Amino acid sequence: MTTDAPDPRHDDANRVRFFDTTLRDGEQSPGIHLNTTEKVEVARQLVRLGVDIIEAGFPIASPGDFEGARAIAEDVEGVTVAGLARANERDVERAGEAVLPAERGRIHTFIATSDIHLEHKLRMDRAQVLAAAVDAVKLARSIVDDVEFSCEDATRSDVAFVAEVIGGAIEEGATTINIPDTVGYTMPTEFQAFLLGLYERCPALRDVTLSVHCHNDLGLAVANSLAGLHVGARQIECCVNGIGERAGNASLEEMAMILRTRADDVGGLWCGIDTTEITRASRLVSRLTGYTVQPNKAVVGRNAFAHEAGIHQHGVLSNPLTYEIMDATSVGLAQSEIVLGKHSGRHALKAAYEELGYDLDRDQLNHVFDRFKEVADRKGRVSAADLEALLSDEMRAEATGELKLESMTFSGGTEGAPEARVVVRTSDGALHEGASDGDGPVDALMRAIDAAMGSSGRLLEYNVSSITSGKDALGEARVACEIDGRTFAGQAVSTDVMEASAVAYLRAVDASRRATEGERVTAGGV
Ligand code: KIV
Ligand code: ZN
Repeated sequence: MTTDAPDPRHDDANRVRFFDTTLRDGEQSPGIHLNTTEKVEVARQLVRLGVDIIEAGFPIASPGDFEGARAIAEDVEGVTVAGLARANERDVERAGEAVLPAERGRIHTFIATSDIHLEHKLRMDRAQVLAAAVDAVKLARSIVDDVEFSCEDATRSDVAFVAEVIGGAIEEGATTINIPDTVGYTMPTEFQAFLLGLYERCPALRDVTLSVHCHNDLGLAVANSLAGLHVGARQIECCVNGIGERAGNASLEEMAMILRTRADDVGGLWCGIDTTEITRASRLVSRLTGYTVQPNKAVVGRNAFAHEAGIHQHGVLSNPLTYEIMDATSVGLAQSEIVLGKHSGRHALKAAYEELGYDLDRDQLNHVFDRFKEVADRKGRVSAADLEALLSDEMRAEATGELKLESMTFSGGTEGAPEARVVVRTSDGALHEGASDGDGPVDALMRAIDAAMGSSGRLLEYNVSSITSGKDALGEARVACEIDGRTFAGQAVSTDVMEASAVAYLRAVDASRRATEGERVTAGGV
C-alpha cells in the first residue's frame, strides 16, 4: 500500500513526489480552455488526491493563465503551487507574482538544450542558452526558495551540454532539476542511461531532486517515468487522464496505481497519493476539459474493472483475484448511494455535494439548486453522477456567461431538409436570431447559431452520452470544432440532448470569441 502513512516501510528517501501539470501541460492541449473557477475546482481535487506540487499555469501566457494560477495559489493549502516561466526576466517575474500568495510557491523555469531547438526555435548558441538558464534561476531564487529548472527536449540533447546547463542551474540555487522527454522519443533503458550520464557528469545532481517529465508520443510516458525513478528520480510530472501536449503526459493514475499495486517490487518507492480519489479526479477533468477517457484506458477507463466474458465473470465472482489485480474501491469506484428527489431541499443538496467532496458557496448552491430542481422535476431521482454533471455544467455556464441560448426550435424527419432557428442572448442583453437548414438537425442547429453569431465553425468531433442509464437520463453533448483555424471544445448537460448539443456548440463559439480577445503565448522561445 502506498497511501497508508505512516508506514514503517516508507523511507523518505524513496518517496516519489507527484508534480501534477494537468492545469499547465494538460490545459495546453488543443480545445481545452478552463476558466478560473474550473481551474480552482480541479486544484482542490488535486489536493484531495494528495499531489505534492500543482503546476497551476504559465502565467505570462495570457491574463487568464495568470489569474488562474494566482487564484489557485490563494485558494489551496498543504501543497506547493508552481508557475511556469521561460528563461527570461518577464516570464520569471510574472510567475513569481502569480505564486506569491501560495503557502509554498515554486517558479519552474525552462529553456531548450537540443541543437534542433537552439538552431530553429531559439536561434541561440550554447553559451547564450547557458547564460539565460543561469540568469533565470538566479532571478527566480531571489523571488522564491523553491526553484525548478528544466532542459526542454533534454533527451534529444547532447548529454554533456545538459550536464553543464543543469550544473550552472544548481550552482545558482535550483532545488529541482527536471529532465523532460519533450517529444516522447526516448525508450526506458536509453532514458536511464541518459540520466545516469547526467549523474556521472554532474555530481551536484545528487544534492537536488531529480524530476522526469515524459510525453506519450510512443506510448512510453509511464514506462519511461518508472525507469527514471529506478535510477534516482524522485519527482514525476504527470497529468490526470494522461492529458497534455499532443499524445499527452504520463498518466497520474497509472503511476500511482503501479506504485500501489506493485509496492513490493518497486524498490521501496512510495507516494502520498490517495488513490480512492482517482475516479473523481478523472471524471472531473474529463468533464471540464471535454476530453473523454477511452473505454479501455488503464485504471480510469469505464471497462477497466468490467468483465464481459462469461468465463471471466464466473472467475471474478468466485474469487476477484482471478482476473483483477486491483480492487475497484481502491480507485474510488464504489457506487455512491446518494439519490435525491424533487422534494429534496437546499440543505440536502448541500450535504450531498459535501459527501461528494464539493464545498459549495451560497451563490454556487443557489445556481445549482435551480438546475437540480428542473432535473428532479423532469426525472424524479437525481443520482451522484447527475449531481457531479450538473455542477461541472454550472461551472462551464459561468465561463460562458457571454452567450446564452434563449430558445431553439427545429424540425426534421425522413422527408425534406431539417431546419433550425435559434435566439442567442449576449451579455449586453441583445438578442441575436439565426436560422438555417442542415444535413441533420444537429448540423442545422449549429449553422443557425453561426448565422446568429456571425461565426463559422467546422465540426471535428461530436459526441452525445448519457450520464446515468435509463430513458430519462441526463445527456451530455461534447463538440470539438475548428473556428478561425483553431480548435475549440464545448460541453453541455441537459435532459434534452438537442438542447445539450446546441449549448455545447454555443460554448465553443463563445470560447473562440474570448480567445481572440486575449491571444495566448505558447511555451517556446526564451
Ligand atoms: O515537455 C516539456 O518539455 C515541457 C517543459 C516546459 C517542462 O512541458
Ligand atoms: Zn511537456
